[in-house]
Amino acid sequence: MCGIFAYLNYNVNRERRYILEVLFNGLRRLEYRGYDSAGISIDSSFPSSLSNGSSSDSLPPLVFRQEGNIESLVKSVYQDVASTDLNLEESFLVHAGIAHTRWATHGEPAPRNSHPQTSGPGNEFVVVHNGVVTNYQVLKETLLRHGFNFESETDTEVIPKLAKFVFDKANEEGDQTVTFSQVVLEVMRHLEGAYALIFKSQHYPNELIACKRGSPLLLGVKEFNEDMSNGPSFQDVKLLTKSEQPKELFLSSDANAVVEHTKKVLVIEDGEVVHLKDGAVSILKFDQGKGKRSGGLARPASVQRALSVLEMEVEQINKGNYEHYMQKEIHEQPESLTTTMRGRLIRGGSCKAKTVLLGGLKDHLKTIRRSRRIVFIGCGTSYNAALAARPILEELSGIPVTMEIASDLLDRQGPIYREDTAVFVSQSGETADTLRALEYALENGALCVGITNTVGSAIARNTHCGVHINAGAEIGVASTKAYTSQIVVMAMLALAIGSDAISSQIRREAIIDGLFELPSKVREALKLDREMKDLAKLLMAEQSLLVFGRGYNYATALEGALKVKEVALMHSEGILAGEMKHGPLALVDENLPIFVIATHDVCFSKQQSVIQQLNARKGRLIVMCSRGDASSVNVGGSCRVIEVPQVEDCLQPVINIVPLQLLAYHLTVQRGYNVDQPRNLAKSVTTE
Ligand code: F6R
Repeated sequence: MCGIFAYLNYNVNRERRYILEVLFNGLRRLEYRGYDSAGISIDSSFPSSLSNGSSSDSLPPLVFRQEGNIESLVKSVYQDVASTDLNLEESFLVHAGIAHTRWATHGEPAPRNSHPQTSGPGNEFVVVHNGVVTNYQVLKETLLRHGFNFESETDTEVIPKLAKFVFDKANEEGDQTVTFSQVVLEVMRHLEGAYALIFKSQHYPNELIACKRGSPLLLGVKEFNEDMSNGPSFQDVKLLTKSEQPKELFLSSDANAVVEHTKKVLVIEDGEVVHLKDGAVSILKFDQGKGKRSGGLARPASVQRALSVLEMEVEQINKGNYEHYMQKEIHEQPESLTTTMRGRLIRGGSCKAKTVLLGGLKDHLKTIRRSRRIVFIGCGTSYNAALAARPILEELSGIPVTMEIASDLLDRQGPIYREDTAVFVSQSGETADTLRALEYALENGALCVGITNTVGSAIARNTHCGVHINAGAEIGVASTKAYTSQIVVMAMLALAIGSDAISSQIRREAIIDGLFELPSKVREALKLDREMKDLAKLLMAEQSLLVFGRGYNYATALEGALKVKEVALMHSEGILAGEMKHGPLALVDENLPIFVIATHDVCFSKQQSVIQQLNARKGRLIVMCSRGDASSVNVGGSCRVIEVPQVEDCLQPVINIVPLQLLAYHLTVQRGYNVDQPRNLAKSVTTE
């Protein structure tokens, strides 16, 4: 949902071509967050000394914007550069560039609606933005009255214009010393909604300002030894003050665009303003109350923050030998599941019980056990993962478990009580609907638990406790490995909550054994790749696909259908098999393909009868069953049967989703659609 990126080299000579490539690569890493248009802003030319230029000796920043994906931008920038006298080999000792990849919310994908948005002709202030400014109409009307002209339909355009308004006003009032951060703090005072912003300005050359509220933002810091002869190397972190030490600084919506440069990062918090100037990084805390009303522009004190080290490798964000990220992430599941469980399952000695250790929850388990109910809250695939885990949580905890789609909970303002445990499930940890639901649950006094894949994300930071799923970076927009890891974490959550009940010990130990063997069973399920590719060939021209599941695998039906729908752009619907007779049966004929999940569990005989009823209506069936069960599901002999490895019933959804993920992947490739960047979608939905 939009990616923003910035690169500032300080006291390190960098050619314009290099700067452009760093910005483009940053955008390539963030492209999964939005890919309908992109843009950058760099400097034309000004003295590349380390002393700041003044407004008189700096030229306006250049802005390049292009509809389409990053490669369209790259092509158009090099074309534009070739037609001017800009020299790609010109080098800068210090240079600040910003970049943006867009998922349109306000205004169609078009260069005028792409970012950077500007303060007007002359580009005095340029801004990249991830989020939504909710009061932009009011701000726009005010700025129009002050003579500003708008060229886009975006909410963002008010921001650089507001910055220019603040800057001009301060100067008119005789404040020639107004700083970049004072301008930005004053702009923030007027903004409502969610944002991560990076500002660049002709008036403050070689400086960048970033700030955020609600949308994610990260600072990356790479320092060099003063002796550069042996190439760059890391030094201890003592950079947050002014220094001549060569360094490169990065700002990014997420770690993917930073990790190839440095692992030293700072997760910027809501209300913080980060000012990069003269090799120093200062962090100011925005206070809504401070500013004009107290006379003059705000001069807040700076905040001390320590850098942390990213636990992430560059290989994680490369495709390796795979053609697509989605394909890679499907095939990575045996490893991602192993990482999810690492150090959390204890098999015990000969007389010790097998158990689960979730460090992030251990101080809260008693409170959770005393809850009146557990409420799962999430969106899309994360919601489906929670739905898959619900039966085992109910069984092992004995606590009622209810399900909430985050936006629906907010629309209804559904009841959340102090005695509730609210579990927030989110791969990105940044989904706006889930975040708002978290704020709502916190206001209502519930104990809030986060289950996310992103360390330092808003959900991870703002919940009382939680568990990281440790699935590794997921780049494909369609969630795959995060889904299976989420289910496993929630199964472990159920085991941990139920661990004080002697009556369920045998069941718990069987599940723990099942968890241990899960990666190898998933590896077996992945061998169905060829079969699913053939099935995809058979189905590629279809309009629609129904997926029937029940019990543990109702969620599998919903998730399988979601995958087919979102990447293969084929209508697909997950249906609770128990509801078949109450409507969906009317759709059944000899043409519509129907996928029935009938693996071995307590619902098996009911699914057998569903298959019979569908057969009786000449339904075109594809049945997924446990290995060895083919003859008991294919009674009429007319179904196509897919056999999967059998695991403990509550873990079966982890296996059963694999063939459906593979089917969605192959359908997409065969139908000729973009696997990793499905139409109209983006990862990390940071707007409501
Ligand atoms: C579908 C998909 C989405 C996300 C949903 C929530 O493949 O990825 O449905 O699951 O947007 O995102 P997170 O989990 O980041 O909160």
